[in-house]
Amino acid sequence: MNPDSKRANKGNILLVDDLLENLQLLSDSLLKLGYTVRSVTSGRMALKTIKVKQPDVILLDIKMPEMDGYEVCRILKADEDLRSIPVIFISALDDVFDKVTAFESGGIDYITKPFQMEEVVARLENQLTIQRQQRLLEQEITNRREAEEVLYQSRALLASVLNSSLDGVAAMQAVREPTTGDIEDFRCLVVNPVIARAFGSKREDLIGRLVLKQFLMEIQPELFDLLVNIVETGEPLQQDFHYESGESSWFHFVAVKLGDGFAITIRDITARKQAEFQLQQQAKDLEFTLRKLKRTQAQLIQSEKMSSIGNLVAGVAHEINNPVNFIHGNLAPATEYFQDLLYLIKLYQKHFPNPPEEIQAEIEAINLEFLQQDLLKLLNSMQIGSDRIQEIVMSLRNFSRHDEAELKQVDIHQGIDNTLMIIRNRLKATAEHPEIVVIKDYGQLPLVECYSSQLNQVFMSLINNAIDSLSEQFIGERPEIKIQTQFLEKNRILIKISDNGLGILEELQSKIFDPFFTTKTVGKGTGLGLFICHQIIVDKHGGNLYCCSTVGKGAEFAIEIPITGNSPST
Ligand SMILES: Nc1ncnc2c1ncn2[C@@H]1O[C@H](COP(=O)(O)OP(=O)(O)OP(=O)(O)O)[C@@H](O)[C@H]1O
Ligand SMILES: [Mg+2]
Repeated sequence: MNPDSKRANKGNILLVDDLLENLQLLSDSLLKLGYTVRSVTSGRMALKTIKVKQPDVILLDIKMPEMDGYEVCRILKADEDLRSIPVIFISALDDVFDKVTAFESGGIDYITKPFQMEEVVARLENQLTIQRQQRLLEQEITNRREAEEVLYQSRALLASVLNSSLDGVAAMQAVREPTTGDIEDFRCLVVNPVIARAFGSKREDLIGRLVLKQFLMEIQPELFDLLVNIVETGEPLQQDFHYESGESSWFHFVAVKLGDGFAITIRDITARKQAEFQLQQQAKDLEFTLRKLKRTQAQLIQSEKMSSIGNLVAGVAHEINNPVNFIHGNLAPATEYFQDLLYLIKLYQKHFPNPPEEIQAEIEAINLEFLQQDLLKLLNSMQIGSDRIQEIVMSLRNFSRHDEAELKQVDIHQGIDNTLMIIRNRLKATAEHPEIVVIKDYGQLPLVECYSSQLNQVFMSLINNAIDSLSEQFIGERPEIKIQTQFLEKNRILIKISDNGLGILEELQSKIFDPFFTTKTVGKGTGLGLFICHQIIVDKHGGNLYCCSTVGKGAEFAIEIPITGNSPST
């Protein structure tokens, strides 16, 4: 530390005395002790110097010509800026020293000449200390005023934010049970108008009160524990909650630990939630409409497909029917005529055993003996063939049953047999599979009231699926399709169609009835077969259609329908 700064720290003294030797003496002594000293010899000069630079203390002689010490002091004290500088009067022993005047004029202390330097220093130090402390105090006061102002402004800001906020804001302090320390409730420290409104109270009625627990118990008791958890763990929490308050019902809150309590901000999100719900509903409606559209589309495709197949089948059956009838009808008389002619030949042979040579040669050329035997056989097999064609035509007509769009009493077994007849070709051995054996296990069934052509469609779809599966792979020695029928209690019948193909993966079983679900290659399957079967059995006939399959053990489809037409829709 340099000596100048030490001196500056010790104090800045102004000496005022008209006697130069006095000045010299004091000034030297004080300078030696490290004070900063300025000396002047008159009151006027003193006032000038003071204005240039204020001293910490003034040592002021009383008796001076022109302007005495009292007057200088009074002038100083009258000046707002200078009145705080302490003035110590110096009086000579022979002076008429008036203490009252000295203090009245503003002096703080006095020293009487001749003086001891220790006394002067002691009195000076007193004043300097008081001076320093006063300055510190003033600084402190200024600091406090500034801090108070900042505090005041931030409070005003906080109040305005709280009052104008659209969100609810509150601060709560935990109220603990004295012995266990458990939180029993929360005291409202701060609540803004939005929160007060939610409580249905005035702010001033809420502050300091324990209302939170009771309030939460009425609306959502578990929220209280969550808030306690925030205070105990310091973990903040935010979530949506539902509470009916006026027109609002959905809120989002963010709560954070604050001291031994928490601060919470609550926002009304009813409008947002409503929009969300509306969107969800719209999405659901759209999904529903889409599903409906898909079903309608599937139905349209299938009915179009079936109606063209039906038309074709019915047309072909009709066209074949006439010529077949023609052949079939003429076969019997033709056989009869041939038999008559053969008899006639036999008569000729009996009465003319030796015909002319030309006839004899012809008899040998045509091998009359063989011809006679074979002709009958031939006519017989023609008869069988035409019977067969007639059967097929009948099956085709039965299968398409164009004229039977209404409920009719039907022989289910006949329907199954007709279907098998139509797809007989697919059962024959091919490059993909050996001949598929159909095992029928028919029970005693009454006539069933149903839409026969639709039911035939179902048999066709199920048997075709079984054939498709068996064409891929079959379990055991030969590919088989079993068809079982059974009469059940409560006037229902059961038809089971099973195969020993690979079966259906468990995760696919819930999807196979969906429209357009297929595992087959493009062009081989549309994925509509089972969807339509389900509609026909469940919706049209009030029945049930189940699939039961284990991979590696084949698949079984079971149809259950009532025997009387109690279908739910037509
Ligand atoms: N007997 C079965 N064995 C194994 N898988 C089967 C059987 N029946 C149906 N599936 C599976 O169910 C899927 C759906 O069958 P569905 O009859 O609805 O459609 P598809 O046969 O693929 O096409 P299509 O519309 O031509 O009938 C099939 O692709 C197949 O994966
Ligand atoms: Mg199919």
